[in-house]
Amino acid sequence: MKKVLLPFIMTLLIVAGCQSPAAENGVRELRLAHNQPLEHPIHQSLVEFGRLVEEKSDQNIKVKIYANGQLGSEREVIELTQTGAVDISKVSASALEGFEPDYSIFSLPYVFDDYKDFQRTMQNEEVTSKIYNQTEEIGFVGLTYYNAGVRNLYTKNQPVNSPDEMNGLKVRVQPSQTSVKMIEAFGGTPTPMAYGEVYTALQAGVIDAAENNESALVSNNHGEVAKKYMYTEHQIVPDMLIMNAESLKSFSDEEQALIQEAAAESTLYHEDVWNKTIEEVKETAQNEMGVEFLQVDKEAFMKSVEPLHKEYAENEKTKDIYQLIEGAETNE
Ligand code: GCU
Repeated sequence: MKKVLLPFIMTLLIVAGCQSPAAENGVRELRLAHNQPLEHPIHQSLVEFGRLVEEKSDQNIKVKIYANGQLGSEREVIELTQTGAVDISKVSASALEGFEPDYSIFSLPYVFDDYKDFQRTMQNEEVTSKIYNQTEEIGFVGLTYYNAGVRNLYTKNQPVNSPDEMNGLKVRVQPSQTSVKMIEAFGGTPTPMAYGEVYTALQAGVIDAAENNESALVSNNHGEVAKKYMYTEHQIVPDMLIMNAESLKSFSDEEQALIQEAAAESTLYHEDVWNKTIEEVKETAQNEMGVEFLQVDKEAFMKSVEPLHKEYAENEKTKDIYQLIEGAETNE
C-alpha cells in the first residue's frame, strides 16, 4: 500500500515546492518524516524539537511531522530528504550506511563498550562534525542524534545463548551491509528488510528472529509474536536527524543556529523520555505480552565478530572513522 502511494505523495510534495515554502504570512513550514508510531518515544522528542523551533523562531518556523512511515521506508525518506521533497527526517544511522560509509561504524557490533562510551563519543565534536557535515555534497547534513537504545536479539520461541545456537536462524536486519555481516559472523542467516515489514514477517515465519531495542516489542507490537529477548547487546545504533542541505542554508545564520540548538536540546530531552519508556516497555513486554528476557554468553558473540573489526580497521573506506571512534575522548 505504502509503496503504491509513495510516488503519489512524492509528486504532491514536489508540486508543493521542494524547498519549504514561505507562506503568505512569512511563516515557513519544515516537513519532517519518520517511521515510528505516535506512541513511540522518538515521536515525542521530535514533537519537542518542533516546539522548540517554533518557540525560538517566534512562531516564524513551523515543523510538520509525518509519522508512521507514511512517506515511506527509511531509505525512501532519506532519498526524499536528499531532493528536498522532505526537509528533515529521522532515520536510523544503519539506514544511512548505504549513502555514506562512515555511518557503517554504528552497525559494527561492539564498537562501543556501553552506552556511556557511545555518549562520550557522540559528544566529541571531531566525530560529529565529520559525520554530520560530509554528506552535504549528497544533499543532506546531520543535525543531531537520538538515543535508540542498545540492540538485542529476539526470536519467536527459540532461546539463544551463544553463536553456536544461531545456525539456521533467519534474522531480520536493517538494510545495512554491516548488519548483514554481523549476523553472518554470529552464524545466523541475515534477511535485510524495512522496519515496517518485520511484524508480519515474524508472524508469517518468513523470519525467525529480529534484533532491536526493547521498545520494538511494545511500540511496534513485536512482543506479540516474539517471546524470547536475549541481551546480546551487540549494537548501539543512534537515530539521526538529517536535514536537506539547501533547505538549511536557505535560512539566515541566526535561524540556522536556532534549528541546530533546538535539535541539540531535543536530544537531551529525549534521553529522559527514552530511559523512562524503556523501563515501562520492559514491564509491559514481560507482564502483559509474556516476553522472557534472557542473558547470553556475550563474550562468545563478541569473539565471533573480531574479524569484522579487523576488516573495518583496515578497509580504506572505514579505517579513518574506525580509528576516530576507537580513540574518541570526550572534549567536555
Ligand atoms: C530502531 C530505530 C528505527 C529503525 C529500526 C529498525 O527502532 O529507532 O529508526 O527503523 O530500529 O530496526 O529498522
